[in-house]
Amino acid sequence: MTVIDAEILSAGSGRRRTSIPQRVQPLAEVILAVDGLTVGTARADLVIDVSLEVRAGETLCLVGESGCGKSLTCLAAMGLTSEPLVVRNGHISFLGQSLSALGENQLADIRGRDMAMIFQDAMAALNPVRRVGMQIAEVLVVHRGLSWREAERRAIELIDSVGIPEPEVRSRAFPHQLSGGMCQRIMIAMALACRPKLLIADEATTALDVTTQAQILGLMRELQAETGAAMIFVTHDLGVVAEIADRVAVMYSGRVVETATVDELFEHPLHPYTRGLMACRLHATTTSHGRIAAIEGTVPSPSRRPAGCSFRPRCSFGTDACHSPPVLSRVVGDHRAACHFAGDFA
Ligand SMILES: Nc1ncnc2c1ncn2[C@@H]1O[C@H](COP(=O)(O)OP(=O)(O)OP(=O)(O)O)[C@@H](O)[C@H]1O
Ligand code: SF4
Ligand SMILES: [Mg+2]
Repeated sequence: MTVIDAEILSAGSGRRRTSIPQRVQPLAEVILAVDGLTVGTARADLVIDVSLEVRAGETLCLVGESGCGKSLTCLAAMGLTSEPLVVRNGHISFLGQSLSALGENQLADIRGRDMAMIFQDAMAALNPVRRVGMQIAEVLVVHRGLSWREAERRAIELIDSVGIPEPEVRSRAFPHQLSGGMCQRIMIAMALACRPKLLIADEATTALDVTTQAQILGLMRELQAETGAAMIFVTHDLGVVAEIADRVAVMYSGRVVETATVDELFEHPLHPYTRGLMACRLHATTTSHGRIAAIEGTVPSPSRRPAGCSFRPRCSFGTDACHSPPVLSRVVGDHRAACHFAGDFA
């Protein structure tokens, strides 16, 4: 159990810590809107009819077991899908501008300056033959127009701000001279460098120890408070979700099966899958592969999904009605679930 989990559980209800205020203005600007996104290969659809919206200052958490389509959704949202992946359907707009209307150069510019993504595998994402400080500085020179001298100074400040000791010395290191956790923090510093309007963090803090993780989450929240950045945060850790999310989208087998505010989701999970995740969280049984041990069975392979509800083979509430696919629909307020019987759990 993480420190964050312990704090939340000790609060009694499993809800987010009451010390963290709700920060989102309900009518804040929509930064990213994904509408009806379907991504697949020639063999199967991998992300199906996903619609998401994230507003300025808001944190949307994407949760779900391994292989449910969280990373592909993020990649597609940044216009980063490539062979063999094909975007079959859907529309993505960033700051009101359709991504499909932009050329590759414009997209690359937006990605470096206004959108940033932090991947789980920092070692692979960093350039192995460049000093880490220079890699951060380069982002500032290219996308913010800083001089190299100013950018290098700022890079050291950023390295310091993600909790790396001796930042001046570390800035001159190559990635292989730093630990995995430090490389992860360098990636985070690089993502924060341009103060992006959208930050996508895909399991960005999973590999870090709980103290560093708490420090990084705090840093991201500070950035949001200062810049009004929107954040999409992918995690298996419901303790982290409770800590940072404003809204949550639960994914299963390529689809969003439930979406709600974090309080609503933790207090009234409606989809049997979400209820299973919540139950597992209390027993701390997520495996290192992101499989939820207490929900019997596994996520179906995208090419072998059962007809109707994809969760049917694992669901103890299923009936014959579940042979027809449930649609993600509004159950209470803006709380939506894709289950024929979600209303019974409300
Ligand atoms: N480049 C690709 N080509 C073919 N299939 C892919 C590709 N990338 C992902 N997939 C498949 O798409 C599905 C969704 O993958 P994705 O990486 O989005 O899952 P995820 O929810 O991020 O899982 P994890 O929690 O393990 O990171 C999986 O079945 C995966 O095997
Ligand atoms: S639609 Fe049926 S099988 Fe699917 S989650 Fe709901 S009850 Fe279970
Ligand atoms: Mg992933």
